[in-house]
Amino acid sequence: MSLSPAFLDELRARTPLSAVIGRRVKLSRSGRQWKGCCPFHGEKTPSFYVYDDHYHCFGCGAHGDAVSFVMQSQGAGFVEAVEQLASEAGMEVPKPTPAAAEAERRRLDLHAVLEAAAARFRKRLFLPEGARALAYLRGRGLSDDTIARFGLGWSGEGRGALTAELAREDVPPDMLVQAGLVTDNGDGRPPRELFFNRVIFPIRDRRGRTISFGGRILGDGQPKYLNGPETALFSKRRTLFGLDAAREPARHGAIVLAVEGYMDVIALHQAGFGGAVAPLGTALTEEQLEEMWRLSPAPVLCFDGDAAGGRAAARAAELALPFLTPERTLRLAALPPGEDPDTLVRRGGNDAFQAVLNAARPLADALFDLLRETGGDTTPEQRAGLRAKLDEAAGRIRDKGLAAEYRRALLERFYARRASSFTRRNGGKPPPRALGVPRPVPGEQTATAERCRTLLAILLRHPNLLHDVEEALGSVELPPPLALLRGEILHWSTSAEALDSDDLITHLTQVGLAAEVEQALSAVTFPLPACALPEAQPAEAEAGWWHIFGLMHRGRLEEEVVAASRDFASRPDDAAQRRLIALCTARDALRRGEQGLEGE
Ligand code: UTP
Ligand code: MN
Repeated sequence: MSLSPAFLDELRARTPLSAVIGRRVKLSRSGRQWKGCCPFHGEKTPSFYVYDDHYHCFGCGAHGDAVSFVMQSQGAGFVEAVEQLASEAGMEVPKPTPAAAEAERRRLDLHAVLEAAAARFRKRLFLPEGARALAYLRGRGLSDDTIARFGLGWSGEGRGALTAELAREDVPPDMLVQAGLVTDNGDGRPPRELFFNRVIFPIRDRRGRTISFGGRILGDGQPKYLNGPETALFSKRRTLFGLDAAREPARHGAIVLAVEGYMDVIALHQAGFGGAVAPLGTALTEEQLEEMWRLSPAPVLCFDGDAAGGRAAARAAELALPFLTPERTLRLAALPPGEDPDTLVRRGGNDAFQAVLNAARPLADALFDLLRETGGDTTPEQRAGLRAKLDEAAGRIRDKGLAAEYRRALLERFYARRASSFTRRNGGKPPPRALGVPRPVPGEQTATAERCRTLLAILLRHPNLLHDVEEALGSVELPPPLALLRGEILHWSTSAEALDSDDLITHLTQVGLAAEVEQALSAVTFPLPACALPEAQPAEAEAGWWHIFGLMHRGRLEEEVVAASRDFASRPDDAAQRRLIALCTARDALRRGEQGLEGE
Protein backbone atom coordinates (compact mmCIF):
# COMPACT_ATOMS: atom_id res chain seq x y z
CA MET A 1 0.00 0.00 0.00
CA SER A 2 1.32 3.42 -0.80
CA LEU A 3 0.33 6.11 1.65
CA SER A 4 0.56 9.75 0.69
CA PRO A 5 3.40 11.76 2.21
CA ALA A 6 0.76 14.31 3.21
CA PHE A 7 -1.03 11.69 5.28
CA LEU A 8 2.20 10.50 6.86
CA ASP A 9 3.22 14.08 7.62
CA GLU A 10 -0.08 14.68 9.30
CA LEU A 11 0.23 11.45 11.26
CA ARG A 12 3.70 12.37 12.47
CA ALA A 13 2.51 15.87 13.35
CA ARG A 14 -0.30 14.48 15.48
CA THR A 15 1.85 11.88 17.17
CA PRO A 16 4.11 13.25 19.88
CA LEU A 17 7.14 11.04 19.55
CA SER A 18 8.14 11.35 23.19
CA ALA A 19 4.72 10.00 24.20
CA VAL A 20 4.93 6.99 21.88
CA ILE A 21 8.42 6.13 23.07
CA GLY A 22 7.68 7.12 26.66
CA ARG A 23 5.30 4.16 26.92
CA ARG A 24 8.20 1.76 26.52
CA VAL A 25 11.20 3.70 27.69
CA LYS A 26 11.56 5.81 30.80
CA LEU A 27 12.49 9.20 29.39
CA SER A 28 13.78 12.26 31.11
CA ARG A 29 14.30 15.75 29.80
CA SER A 30 17.72 16.62 28.56
CA GLY A 31 17.61 20.21 27.41
CA ARG A 32 15.25 20.39 24.50
CA GLN A 33 15.14 16.67 23.94
CA TRP A 34 14.44 13.55 25.93
CA LYS A 35 16.80 10.77 26.79
CA GLY A 36 16.59 7.30 28.21
CA CYS A 37 18.14 3.85 28.06
CA CYS A 38 18.02 2.47 24.55
CA PRO A 39 15.33 -0.22 24.15
CA PHE A 40 17.23 -1.79 21.28
CA HIS A 41 20.44 -2.74 23.04
CA GLY A 42 21.14 -3.41 26.70
CA GLU A 43 22.60 -0.35 28.40
CA LYS A 44 22.76 1.15 31.87
CA THR A 45 23.58 4.74 31.03
CA PRO A 46 21.22 6.53 28.66
CA SER A 47 22.46 7.21 25.16
CA PHE A 48 19.07 7.09 23.46
CA TYR A 49 17.79 10.56 22.50
CA VAL A 50 14.31 11.55 21.40
CA TYR A 51 13.89 14.76 19.39
CA ASP A 52 10.72 16.35 18.10
CA ASP A 53 10.51 14.18 15.00
CA HIS A 54 13.10 11.44 15.31
CA TYR A 55 15.05 9.36 17.79
CA HIS A 56 18.68 8.38 17.75
CA CYS A 57 20.77 6.04 19.85
CA PHE A 58 24.39 7.06 20.14
CA GLY A 59 25.19 3.60 21.46
CA CYS A 60 23.84 1.26 18.78
CA GLY A 61 22.86 3.72 16.05
CA ALA A 62 19.13 2.91 16.13
CA HIS A 63 17.38 5.75 14.38
CA GLY A 64 13.92 6.57 13.10
CA ASP A 65 10.56 8.23 13.57
CA ALA A 66 7.32 7.24 15.30
CA VAL A 67 6.42 4.71 12.64
CA SER A 68 9.80 3.02 12.66
CA PHE A 69 9.82 2.99 16.45
CA VAL A 70 6.60 1.01 16.52
CA MET A 71 7.99 -1.27 13.80
CA GLN A 72 11.29 -1.83 15.59
CA SER A 73 9.99 -2.11 19.12
CA GLN A 74 6.93 -4.26 18.39
CA GLY A 75 8.13 -6.07 15.33
CA ALA A 76 5.17 -4.58 13.48
CA GLY A 77 5.03 -4.13 9.73
CA PHE A 78 4.80 -0.67 8.20
CA VAL A 79 1.08 -0.78 7.56
CA GLU A 80 0.35 -2.21 10.98
CA ALA A 81 2.46 0.49 12.67
CA VAL A 82 0.77 3.25 10.70
CA GLU A 83 -2.66 1.86 11.51
CA GLN A 84 -1.88 1.65 15.20
CA LEU A 85 -0.56 5.21 15.38
CA ALA A 86 -3.39 6.54 13.24
CA SER A 87 -6.02 5.03 15.46
CA GLU A 88 -4.31 6.51 18.52
CA ALA A 89 -4.24 9.89 16.80
CA GLY A 90 -7.88 9.60 15.80
CA MET A 91 -7.06 9.49 12.10
CA GLU A 92 -8.37 7.25 9.41
CA VAL A 93 -5.88 5.56 7.13
CA PRO A 94 -6.94 6.45 3.59
CA LYS A 95 -7.91 3.58 1.35
CA PRO A 96 -5.60 3.27 -1.62
CA THR A 97 -7.97 4.20 -4.42
CA PRO A 98 -6.96 5.18 -7.93
CA ALA A 99 -8.43 8.61 -7.21
CA ALA A 100 -6.20 8.98 -4.13
CA ALA A 101 -3.16 7.94 -6.11
CA GLU A 102 -4.05 10.49 -8.74
CA ALA A 103 -4.54 13.22 -6.11
CA GLU A 104 -1.13 12.40 -4.69
CA ARG A 105 0.51 12.58 -8.10
CA ARG A 106 -1.06 15.99 -8.60
CA ARG A 107 0.22 17.17 -5.24
CA LEU A 108 3.72 16.20 -6.26
CA ASP A 109 3.19 18.02 -9.53
CA LEU A 110 1.95 21.06 -7.65
CA HIS A 111 5.12 21.13 -5.60
CA ALA A 112 7.08 21.13 -8.81
CA VAL A 113 4.98 23.98 -10.23
CA LEU A 114 5.44 26.09 -7.11
CA GLU A 115 9.16 25.41 -7.10
CA ALA A 116 9.37 26.42 -10.75
CA ALA A 117 7.52 29.66 -9.99
CA ALA A 118 9.73 30.36 -6.97
CA ALA A 119 12.81 29.93 -9.13
CA ARG A 120 11.46 32.45 -11.68
CA PHE A 121 10.70 35.00 -8.95
CA ARG A 122 14.14 34.59 -7.37
CA LYS A 123 15.83 35.06 -10.69
CA ARG A 124 13.85 38.18 -11.57
CA LEU A 125 14.93 39.92 -8.39
CA PHE A 126 18.46 40.05 -9.74
CA LEU A 127 17.51 41.02 -13.29
CA PRO A 128 17.26 44.69 -14.26
CA GLU A 129 13.46 44.52 -13.91
CA GLY A 130 13.91 43.57 -10.24
CA ALA A 131 16.30 46.37 -9.38
CA ARG A 132 13.75 48.45 -7.47
CA ALA A 133 12.65 45.45 -5.43
CA LEU A 134 16.20 44.46 -4.62
CA ALA A 135 16.97 48.01 -3.56
CA TYR A 136 13.85 47.98 -1.42
CA LEU A 137 14.88 44.80 0.42
CA ARG A 138 18.45 45.97 0.90
CA GLY A 139 17.09 49.32 2.03
CA ARG A 140 15.20 47.45 4.73
CA GLY A 141 18.46 46.08 6.00
CA LEU A 142 18.44 42.60 4.49
CA SER A 143 21.75 41.14 3.37
CA ASP A 144 21.99 39.24 0.09
CA ASP A 145 22.62 36.16 2.17
CA THR A 146 19.33 36.59 3.98
CA ILE A 147 17.53 37.31 0.72
CA ALA A 148 18.87 34.06 -0.68
CA ARG A 149 18.17 32.06 2.45
CA PHE A 150 14.50 33.03 2.42
CA GLY A 151 14.30 32.76 -1.36
CA LEU A 152 12.87 36.27 -1.74
CA GLY A 153 11.98 37.34 -5.26
CA TRP A 154 10.26 39.79 -7.58
CA SER A 155 6.98 38.98 -9.28
CA GLY A 156 7.53 41.06 -12.40
CA GLU A 157 5.62 44.14 -13.26
CA GLY A 158 2.51 43.09 -15.11
CA ARG A 159 0.31 40.04 -15.27
CA GLY A 160 0.89 37.20 -17.66
CA ALA A 161 4.64 36.73 -17.74
CA LEU A 162 4.75 33.82 -15.34
CA THR A 163 1.96 31.96 -17.10
CA ALA A 164 3.70 32.40 -20.41
CA GLU A 165 7.07 31.25 -19.09
CA LEU A 166 5.67 28.19 -17.36
CA ALA A 167 3.57 27.31 -20.39
CA ARG A 168 6.83 26.96 -22.28
CA GLU A 169 7.74 24.31 -19.70
CA ASP A 170 4.48 22.47 -20.40
CA VAL A 171 2.78 23.47 -17.15
CA PRO A 172 -0.94 23.48 -17.96
CA PRO A 173 -2.87 26.64 -16.93
CA ASP A 174 -5.20 24.76 -14.60
CA MET A 175 -2.18 23.65 -12.55
CA LEU A 176 -1.40 27.31 -11.96
CA VAL A 177 -4.91 27.76 -10.59
CA GLN A 178 -4.50 24.76 -8.32
CA ALA A 179 -1.15 26.07 -7.14
CA GLY A 180 -2.82 29.34 -6.15
CA LEU A 181 -0.74 31.42 -8.54
CA VAL A 182 -3.59 32.30 -10.83
CA THR A 183 -7.20 33.02 -9.90
CA ASP A 184 -10.15 32.09 -11.96
CA ASN A 185 -13.08 34.32 -11.08
CA GLY A 186 -15.45 32.04 -12.92
CA ASP A 187 -16.82 35.06 -14.78
CA GLY A 188 -15.79 33.84 -18.20
CA ARG A 189 -12.73 36.07 -18.33
CA PRO A 190 -9.37 34.32 -18.54
CA PRO A 191 -7.77 33.48 -15.19
CA ARG A 192 -5.44 36.21 -13.91
CA GLU A 193 -2.12 36.05 -12.13
CA LEU A 194 -2.33 36.93 -8.47
CA PHE A 195 1.12 38.39 -7.93
CA PHE A 196 2.43 41.31 -9.92
CA ASN A 197 4.40 44.34 -8.87
CA ARG A 198 5.24 42.68 -5.60
CA VAL A 199 8.24 41.48 -3.64
CA ILE A 200 7.75 37.74 -3.25
CA PHE A 201 8.06 35.85 0.02
CA PRO A 202 7.90 32.09 -0.58
CA ILE A 203 5.85 30.31 2.07
CA ARG A 204 7.34 26.93 2.87
CA ASP A 205 6.17 23.92 4.82
CA ARG A 206 8.14 22.53 7.73
CA ARG A 207 10.26 20.51 5.34
CA GLY A 208 11.16 23.55 3.30
CA ARG A 209 9.01 22.86 0.25
CA THR A 210 7.36 25.93 -1.24
CA ILE A 211 3.60 25.73 -0.79
CA SER A 212 2.48 29.29 -1.52
CA PHE A 213 3.65 32.88 -1.69
CA GLY A 214 3.14 36.19 0.02
CA GLY A 215 3.70 39.38 -1.92
CA ARG A 216 4.45 42.85 -0.61
CA ILE A 217 3.85 46.03 -2.46
CA LEU A 218 6.89 48.28 -2.85
CA GLY A 219 6.46 51.12 -0.42
CA ASP A 220 2.95 52.25 0.52
CA GLY A 221 -0.22 50.95 -1.09
CA GLN A 222 -3.09 48.60 -0.42
CA PRO A 223 -3.26 45.80 0.21
CA LYS A 224 0.21 45.84 1.68
CA TYR A 225 0.55 42.07 1.61
CA LEU A 226 -1.22 39.55 -0.52
CA ASN A 227 -1.18 35.87 0.40
CA GLY A 228 -1.92 32.91 -1.84
CA PRO A 229 -5.31 31.21 -1.42
CA GLU A 230 -5.94 27.89 0.32
CA THR A 231 -4.90 25.02 -1.93
CA ALA A 232 -4.29 21.31 -1.68
CA LEU A 233 -0.79 22.16 -0.43
CA PHE A 234 -1.34 25.37 1.49
CA SER A 235 -3.49 25.64 4.57
CA LYS A 236 -3.07 28.99 6.26
CA ARG A 237 -4.05 27.75 9.67
CA ARG A 238 -1.51 24.94 9.58
CA THR A 239 1.41 26.96 8.32
CA LEU A 240 3.96 29.07 10.11
CA PHE A 241 6.19 31.31 8.06
CA GLY A 242 9.83 30.56 8.87
CA LEU A 243 9.19 27.17 10.46
CA ASP A 244 11.53 25.35 8.07
CA ALA A 245 14.32 27.78 8.91
CA ALA A 246 13.60 27.67 12.65
CA ARG A 247 13.87 23.92 13.17
CA GLU A 248 17.62 23.61 13.13
CA PRO A 249 18.33 26.65 15.33
CA ALA A 250 15.62 25.47 17.75
CA ARG A 251 17.37 22.12 18.04
CA HIS A 252 20.49 23.96 18.99
CA GLY A 253 18.82 25.95 21.69
CA ALA A 254 17.40 29.02 19.94
CA ILE A 255 14.29 30.36 21.61
CA VAL A 256 11.22 29.47 19.58
CA LEU A 257 9.06 32.53 19.23
CA ALA A 258 6.05 33.70 17.28
CA VAL A 259 5.92 37.21 15.87
CA GLU A 260 3.48 38.93 13.54
CA GLY A 261 4.95 39.45 10.11
CA TYR A 262 7.14 38.14 7.33
CA MET A 263 9.64 40.92 7.76
CA ASP A 264 9.81 40.35 11.51
CA VAL A 265 10.75 36.72 11.02
CA ILE A 266 13.37 37.53 8.43
CA ALA A 267 14.91 40.40 10.36
CA LEU A 268 15.05 38.29 13.51
CA HIS A 269 16.72 35.36 11.76
CA GLN A 270 19.26 37.73 10.29
CA ALA A 271 19.92 39.16 13.75
CA GLY A 272 20.53 35.67 15.12
CA PHE A 273 17.12 34.90 16.61
CA GLY A 274 16.73 31.80 14.47
CA GLY A 275 13.71 30.39 16.28
CA ALA A 276 11.32 33.08 14.99
CA VAL A 277 8.16 32.10 13.09
CA ALA A 278 4.93 33.92 12.20
CA PRO A 279 1.35 33.04 11.34
CA LEU A 280 0.16 34.45 8.05
CA GLY A 281 -1.70 37.58 8.99
CA THR A 282 -4.16 35.86 11.29
CA ALA A 283 -4.32 35.06 14.98
CA LEU A 284 -2.35 31.97 16.04
CA THR A 285 -4.25 28.73 15.63
CA GLU A 286 -4.23 25.51 17.60
CA GLU A 287 -2.35 23.78 14.77
CA GLN A 288 0.32 26.46 14.78
CA LEU A 289 0.76 26.11 18.54
CA GLU A 290 1.21 22.37 18.04
CA GLU A 291 3.94 23.02 15.50
CA MET A 292 5.74 25.30 17.91
CA TRP A 293 5.46 22.80 20.72
CA ARG A 294 7.16 20.25 18.55
CA LEU A 295 10.20 22.48 18.67
CA SER A 296 10.08 23.75 22.21
CA PRO A 297 8.23 23.07 25.46
CA ALA A 298 7.83 26.79 26.17
CA PRO A 299 7.74 28.95 23.05
CA VAL A 300 7.43 32.71 23.42
CA LEU A 301 4.54 34.60 21.86
CA CYS A 302 5.53 38.12 21.11
CA PHE A 303 2.84 40.79 21.04
CA ASP A 304 2.57 44.52 20.44
CA GLY A 305 2.81 46.57 23.59
CA ASP A 306 -0.54 48.29 23.03
CA ALA A 307 -4.11 47.40 23.98
CA ALA A 308 -4.69 45.44 20.79
CA GLY A 309 -1.55 43.42 21.53
CA GLY A 310 -2.92 42.69 25.00
CA ARG A 311 -6.15 41.42 23.53
CA ALA A 312 -4.29 39.27 21.04
CA ALA A 313 -2.20 37.83 23.88
CA ALA A 314 -5.32 37.08 25.87
CA ARG A 315 -6.85 35.30 22.89
CA ALA A 316 -3.73 33.23 22.36
CA ALA A 317 -3.61 32.30 26.04
CA GLU A 318 -7.26 31.33 25.92
CA LEU A 319 -6.63 29.17 22.89
CA ALA A 320 -3.65 27.42 24.44
CA LEU A 321 -5.17 26.60 27.83
CA PRO A 322 -6.84 23.28 26.98
CA PHE A 323 -3.59 21.91 25.54
CA LEU A 324 -1.19 22.86 28.31
CA THR A 325 0.60 20.06 30.09
CA PRO A 326 3.58 20.06 32.44
CA GLU A 327 5.70 19.68 29.30
CA ARG A 328 3.97 22.21 27.07
CA THR A 329 3.50 25.79 28.05
CA LEU A 330 3.93 29.29 26.69
CA ARG A 331 5.62 32.50 27.57
CA LEU A 332 4.30 35.92 26.63
CA ALA A 333 6.46 38.87 25.69
CA ALA A 334 5.38 42.44 24.99
CA LEU A 335 7.13 44.74 22.56
CA PRO A 336 7.73 48.38 23.37
CA PRO A 337 4.73 50.39 22.11
CA GLY A 338 5.02 51.36 18.46
CA GLU A 339 7.76 48.87 17.61
CA ASP A 340 7.65 45.57 15.79
CA PRO A 341 10.55 43.12 16.05
CA ASP A 342 11.92 44.30 12.72
CA THR A 343 12.05 47.97 13.70
CA LEU A 344 13.28 47.08 17.17
CA VAL A 345 16.34 45.10 16.06
CA ARG A 346 17.12 47.69 13.43
CA ARG A 347 16.94 50.61 15.83
CA GLY A 348 18.01 49.05 19.10
CA GLY A 349 20.12 46.11 17.96
CA ASN A 350 20.03 42.61 19.30
CA ASP A 351 20.19 43.73 22.89
CA ALA A 352 16.90 45.56 22.58
CA PHE A 353 15.15 42.46 21.32
CA GLN A 354 16.95 40.18 23.74
CA ALA A 355 15.61 42.36 26.54
CA VAL A 356 12.07 41.74 25.29
CA LEU A 357 12.70 38.00 25.35
CA ASN A 358 14.27 38.15 28.77
CA ALA A 359 11.18 39.88 30.07
CA ALA A 360 8.87 37.17 28.68
CA ARG A 361 6.51 36.01 31.40
CA PRO A 362 5.31 32.47 32.06
CA LEU A 363 1.72 32.04 30.97
CA ALA A 364 0.41 31.46 34.50
CA ASP A 365 1.78 34.83 35.54
CA ALA A 366 0.63 36.75 32.54
CA LEU A 367 -2.79 35.12 32.52
CA PHE A 368 -3.84 36.67 35.80
CA ASP A 369 -3.14 40.18 34.58
CA LEU A 370 -4.75 39.54 31.22
CA LEU A 371 -7.95 38.37 32.91
CA ARG A 372 -7.89 41.16 35.47
CA GLU A 373 -7.38 43.83 32.86
CA THR A 374 -10.47 42.83 30.93
CA GLY A 375 -12.91 43.45 33.79
CA GLY A 376 -11.16 45.24 36.64
CA ASP A 377 -11.07 44.04 40.23
CA THR A 378 -11.99 46.89 42.52
CA THR A 379 -15.70 46.50 43.28
CA PRO A 380 -17.08 43.31 44.88
CA GLU A 381 -18.97 42.63 41.65
CA GLN A 382 -15.81 42.89 39.59
CA ARG A 383 -13.93 40.72 42.03
CA ALA A 384 -16.60 38.06 41.96
CA GLY A 385 -16.49 38.25 38.16
CA LEU A 386 -12.73 37.93 38.11
CA ARG A 387 -12.85 35.05 40.57
CA ALA A 388 -15.21 33.22 38.23
CA LYS A 389 -12.99 33.96 35.24
CA LEU A 390 -9.89 32.65 36.99
CA ASP A 391 -11.76 29.51 37.92
CA GLU A 392 -13.02 29.09 34.41
CA ALA A 393 -9.58 29.62 32.88
CA ALA A 394 -7.95 27.00 35.12
CA GLY A 395 -10.85 24.65 34.44
CA ARG A 396 -10.16 24.75 30.72
CA ILE A 397 -6.80 23.07 31.16
CA ARG A 398 -7.43 19.41 30.37
CA ASP A 399 -4.45 18.11 32.33
CA LYS A 400 -6.01 17.68 35.77
CA GLY A 401 -2.88 18.13 37.83
CA LEU A 402 -1.83 21.20 35.95
CA ALA A 403 -5.33 22.68 36.15
CA ALA A 404 -5.19 22.38 39.93
CA GLU A 405 -1.81 24.11 40.04
CA TYR A 406 -3.05 26.91 37.81
CA ARG A 407 -6.14 27.40 39.93
CA ARG A 408 -4.00 27.63 42.98
CA ALA A 409 -1.47 30.03 41.45
CA LEU A 410 -4.23 32.26 40.11
CA LEU A 411 -6.03 32.30 43.45
CA GLU A 412 -2.84 33.13 45.26
CA ARG A 413 -2.51 36.21 43.08
CA PHE A 414 -6.18 36.99 43.61
CA TYR A 415 -5.95 36.96 47.40
CA ALA A 416 -2.58 38.65 47.46
CA ARG A 417 -4.18 41.54 45.62
CA ARG A 418 -7.01 41.68 48.10
CA ALA A 419 -4.55 41.97 50.96
CA SER A 420 -2.80 44.84 49.26
CA SER A 421 -6.00 46.65 48.34
CA PHE A 422 -7.14 46.48 51.98
CA THR A 423 -3.90 48.06 52.99
CA ARG A 424 -4.47 50.85 50.54
CA ARG A 425 -7.91 51.53 51.94
CA ASN A 426 -6.47 51.72 55.44
CA GLY A 427 -4.64 54.86 54.53
CA GLY A 428 -1.74 53.25 52.75
CA LYS A 429 -0.15 51.87 55.88
CA PRO A 430 1.44 48.51 55.27
CA PRO A 431 0.41 45.77 57.65
CA PRO A 432 2.75 45.37 60.61
CA ARG A 433 5.68 43.22 59.63
CA ALA A 434 8.23 41.31 61.58
CA LEU A 435 10.78 43.95 60.61
CA GLY A 436 10.73 47.16 62.59
CA VAL A 437 8.13 46.11 65.12
CA PRO A 438 8.90 44.42 68.42
CA ARG A 439 9.27 40.76 67.76
CA PRO A 440 6.58 38.75 69.52
CA VAL A 441 7.96 36.17 71.89
CA PRO A 442 8.09 32.81 70.14
CA GLY A 443 5.32 31.37 72.29
CA GLU A 444 2.96 34.11 71.28
CA GLN A 445 3.70 33.70 67.61
CA THR A 446 3.18 29.97 67.77
CA ALA A 447 -0.06 30.47 69.67
CA THR A 448 -1.40 32.79 66.98
CA ALA A 449 -0.43 30.42 64.20
CA GLU A 450 -2.05 27.54 66.06
CA ARG A 451 -5.25 29.51 66.56
CA CYS A 452 -5.42 30.41 62.89
CA ARG A 453 -5.12 26.88 61.73
CA THR A 454 -7.49 25.58 64.39
CA LEU A 455 -10.17 28.00 63.17
CA LEU A 456 -9.84 26.43 59.74
CA ALA A 457 -9.57 22.88 61.08
CA ILE A 458 -12.90 23.28 62.85
CA LEU A 459 -14.52 24.51 59.64
CA LEU A 460 -13.01 21.69 57.59
CA ARG A 461 -14.64 19.19 59.96
CA HIS A 462 -17.81 21.20 60.58
CA PRO A 463 -18.50 23.25 57.48
CA ASN A 464 -22.13 23.66 58.52
CA LEU A 465 -20.83 26.49 60.76
CA LEU A 466 -19.69 28.43 57.74
CA HIS A 467 -22.75 30.61 57.27
CA ASP A 468 -22.64 31.69 60.93
CA VAL A 469 -18.98 32.50 61.12
CA GLU A 470 -18.11 33.62 57.63
CA GLU A 471 -18.05 37.33 58.37
CA ALA A 472 -15.86 36.88 61.41
CA LEU A 473 -13.67 34.45 59.50
CA GLY A 474 -13.14 37.02 56.77
CA SER A 475 -11.76 39.50 59.29
CA VAL A 476 -9.03 37.26 60.69
CA GLU A 477 -5.53 37.97 59.48
CA LEU A 478 -4.20 34.63 58.25
CA PRO A 479 -0.79 33.59 56.91
CA PRO A 480 -0.87 33.19 53.08
CA PRO A 481 -1.41 29.43 52.75
CA LEU A 482 -4.29 29.54 55.22
CA ALA A 483 -5.70 32.67 53.59
CA LEU A 484 -5.76 30.75 50.35
CA LEU A 485 -7.55 27.90 52.06
CA ARG A 486 -10.07 30.28 53.60
CA GLY A 487 -10.80 31.88 50.25
CA GLU A 488 -11.48 28.56 48.63
CA ILE A 489 -13.61 27.33 51.54
CA LEU A 490 -15.78 30.45 51.39
CA HIS A 491 -16.03 30.20 47.65
CA TRP A 492 -17.07 26.55 47.87
CA SER A 493 -19.71 27.33 50.49
CA THR A 494 -21.52 29.66 48.08
CA SER A 495 -22.21 26.87 45.62
CA ALA A 496 -21.97 23.61 47.58
CA GLU A 497 -25.10 21.50 47.56
CA ALA A 498 -24.63 20.54 51.19
CA LEU A 499 -22.05 21.77 53.67
CA ASP A 500 -20.44 18.38 54.06
CA SER A 501 -16.94 17.89 55.41
CA ASP A 502 -15.89 15.10 53.05
CA ASP A 503 -17.18 17.02 50.04
CA LEU A 504 -15.28 20.09 51.13
CA ILE A 505 -12.00 18.25 51.61
CA THR A 506 -12.40 16.49 48.26
CA HIS A 507 -13.03 19.80 46.58
CA LEU A 508 -9.98 21.41 48.17
CA THR A 509 -7.81 18.50 47.12
CA GLN A 510 -9.07 18.76 43.57
CA VAL A 511 -8.19 22.42 43.33
CA GLY A 512 -4.63 21.75 44.51
CA LEU A 513 -4.91 22.69 48.18
CA ALA A 514 -4.21 19.25 49.67
CA ALA A 515 -1.04 20.50 51.36
CA GLU A 516 -2.87 23.38 53.03
CA VAL A 517 -5.63 21.07 54.25
CA GLU A 518 -2.96 18.79 55.64
CA GLN A 519 -1.32 21.73 57.39
CA ALA A 520 -4.62 22.75 58.99
CA LEU A 521 -5.51 19.25 60.17
CA SER A 522 -2.06 18.03 61.15
CA ALA A 523 -1.60 16.74 64.66
CA VAL A 524 2.15 16.40 64.38
CA THR A 525 3.34 19.50 66.25
CA PHE A 526 0.28 20.27 68.30
CA PRO A 527 -2.79 18.12 68.72
CA LEU A 528 -6.03 19.77 67.70
CA PRO A 529 -8.56 20.60 70.44
CA ALA A 530 -11.57 18.34 70.84
CA CYS A 531 -13.88 20.85 69.19
CA ALA A 532 -11.90 20.49 65.95
CA LEU A 533 -12.28 16.73 65.75
CA PRO A 534 -14.81 15.17 63.39
CA GLU A 535 -16.71 13.59 66.27
CA ALA A 536 -17.28 16.87 68.14
CA GLN A 537 -20.93 17.84 68.65
CA PRO A 538 -22.06 20.80 66.51
CA ALA A 539 -22.60 22.97 69.58
CA GLU A 540 -19.17 22.12 70.89
CA ALA A 541 -17.56 22.89 67.55
CA GLU A 542 -19.30 26.23 67.27
CA ALA A 543 -18.55 27.34 70.82
CA GLY A 544 -14.96 26.25 70.31
CA TRP A 545 -14.70 28.26 67.13
CA TRP A 546 -15.95 31.44 68.77
CA HIS A 547 -13.76 30.93 71.80
CA ILE A 548 -10.63 30.78 69.69
CA PHE A 549 -11.82 33.67 67.62
CA GLY A 550 -12.38 35.60 70.85
CA LEU A 551 -8.83 34.88 71.97
CA MET A 552 -7.68 36.73 68.89
CA HIS A 553 -10.36 39.41 68.61
CA ARG A 554 -12.00 39.89 71.94
CA GLY A 555 -13.86 43.06 71.01
CA ARG A 556 -15.31 41.45 67.90
CA LEU A 557 -16.59 38.52 69.96
CA GLU A 558 -18.44 40.86 72.32
CA GLU A 559 -20.02 42.54 69.31
CA GLU A 560 -21.09 39.19 67.91
CA VAL A 561 -22.75 38.31 71.22
CA VAL A 562 -24.73 41.58 71.18
CA ALA A 563 -25.76 41.04 67.56
CA ALA A 564 -26.78 37.42 68.25
CA SER A 565 -28.98 38.37 71.20
CA ARG A 566 -30.67 41.01 69.08
CA ASP A 567 -31.29 38.47 66.33
CA PHE A 568 -32.64 35.96 68.78
CA ALA A 569 -34.99 38.57 70.30
CA SER A 570 -36.44 39.45 66.92
CA ARG A 571 -36.52 35.91 65.45
CA PRO A 572 -36.27 33.29 68.15
CA ASP A 573 -35.67 30.20 65.97
CA ASP A 574 -33.39 27.22 66.57
CA ALA A 575 -30.53 28.57 64.54
CA ALA A 576 -30.52 31.92 66.33
CA GLN A 577 -30.67 30.15 69.65
CA ARG A 578 -27.83 27.79 68.84
CA ARG A 579 -25.70 30.66 67.70
CA LEU A 580 -26.40 32.74 70.81
CA ILE A 581 -25.63 29.83 73.12
CA ALA A 582 -22.37 29.12 71.33
CA LEU A 583 -21.30 32.74 71.50
CA CYS A 584 -22.20 33.08 75.18
CA THR A 585 -20.38 29.86 76.02
CA ALA A 586 -17.33 31.18 74.24
CA ARG A 587 -17.49 34.56 75.90
CA ASP A 588 -17.92 33.03 79.36
CA ALA A 589 -15.01 30.72 78.84
CA LEU A 590 -12.94 33.67 77.76
CA ARG A 591 -13.96 35.68 80.83
CA ARG A 592 -12.97 32.80 83.06
CA GLY A 593 -9.61 32.94 81.35
CA GLU A 594 -9.90 29.39 80.14
CA GLN A 595 -7.50 28.28 77.52
CA GLY A 596 -9.04 24.86 77.81
CA LEU A 597 -10.39 24.69 74.30
CA GLU A 598 -6.92 25.00 72.93
CA GLY A 599 -5.80 21.43 73.08
CA GLU A 600 -3.64 21.10 76.17
P1 UTP B 1 2.00 44.23 9.42
O1 UTP B 1 1.15 45.27 8.81
O2 UTP B 1 2.37 44.34 10.86
O3 UTP B 1 3.23 44.12 8.51
O4 UTP B 1 1.33 42.83 9.16
P2 UTP B 1 4.77 44.05 8.76
O5 UTP B 1 5.17 42.63 8.84
O6 UTP B 1 5.24 44.96 9.83
O7 UTP B 1 5.17 44.58 7.34
P3 UTP B 1 6.23 45.61 6.92
O8 UTP B 1 7.23 45.65 7.99
O9 UTP B 1 5.48 46.91 6.74
O10 UTP B 1 6.69 45.05 5.64
C1 UTP B 1 1.80 41.66 9.73
C2 UTP B 1 1.47 40.50 8.85
O11 UTP B 1 0.08 40.50 8.54
C3 UTP B 1 -0.14 40.03 7.23
C4 UTP B 1 1.22 39.66 6.70
O12 UTP B 1 1.44 38.27 6.96
C5 UTP B 1 2.15 40.52 7.52
O13 UTP B 1 3.45 40.01 7.57
N1 UTP B 1 -0.76 41.06 6.39
C6 UTP B 1 -0.56 42.38 6.63
C7 UTP B 1 -1.53 40.67 5.31
O14 UTP B 1 -1.72 39.47 5.11
N2 UTP B 1 -2.09 41.62 4.51
C8 UTP B 1 -1.89 42.95 4.72
O15 UTP B 1 -2.38 43.78 3.92
C9 UTP B 1 -1.12 43.34 5.81
MN1 MN C 1 7.04 45.75 10.06
